[in-house]
Amino acid sequence: MLNINQIDQWRKNRLPFFLKEETASTNADCRVYAEEYDGDFVFLAEKQTAGRGRRGRDFYSPDHGFYFSMCVNAVTGKEILYTLVCAVAAAEALEGCGQHTEIKWVNDLYQNGKKASGILCEAIRSPEDFSLKKVIIGIGINVSEDPFPEELQDKAVRLEGVDRNKLGALLSDSILKWLHAPEEELLKEYKRRSFLIGREVVYELNGKEKCGTVRDINDKGNLIVQTPEGTDTLSSGEISLKEWK
Ligand code: BTN
Repeated sequence: MLNINQIDQWRKNRLPFFLKEETASTNADCRVYAEEYDGDFVFLAEKQTAGRGRRGRDFYSPDHGFYFSMCVNAVTGKEILYTLVCAVAAAEALEGCGQHTEIKWVNDLYQNGKKASGILCEAIRSPEDFSLKKVIIGIGINVSEDPFPEELQDKAVRLEGVDRNKLGALLSDSILKWLHAPEEELLKEYKRRSFLIGREVVYELNGKEKCGTVRDINDKGNLIVQTPEGTDTLSSGEISLKEWK
């Protein structure tokens, strides 16, 4: 069970941590609480009934899983780097819990070719000038023992034996550490943990399916892909390994 005393044994930070047995979405909880509290804080749930994924998708969120959202005040000048921070922090925290994962650009974590974790960052902007005020960092990690629905069975992996209290503690510390780390160090760590560099990938650009070899990730976090026609610089989108096709 999630337990604040156990979390406290592992973490260095003392942010407010809210534990829930069930919630619609921890990202949604953060958005509501951010209206009344101005500091950074965390929501962690055993189960979500309306877990949100990227691109408007649902995120499968069965009981005894790991559904974590941290709301942080925006660090000026870091807008583009939040996704990199989350991926590096999640991989590092999982490593501290005995699980090796690799980053699939932009911010999924994979183990043995299957997705172990998904990340959804959401912005809270000023209604006046639309400037970025806070970022909600939502991270779901597949640790529940419930079987995956059929459509996820070949694509997702469950990480066994993870202490969720330790993971929540390490993850919150790691996010704070990487949010304030020098950008060059963050990028170096992101690349070190990425598995797409040097691999052949398939993606869609301007409505056209393309194929190329990933050469690098630049200092804005863009993926640099070499194709027979030239170089594509991708800032977002879905990428598959050619060997998966
Ligand atoms: C994705 O892979 O599409 C992103 C999934 C993000 C899921 C997490 S679970 C905690 C937080 N609450 C949500 O509703 N979504 C994020």
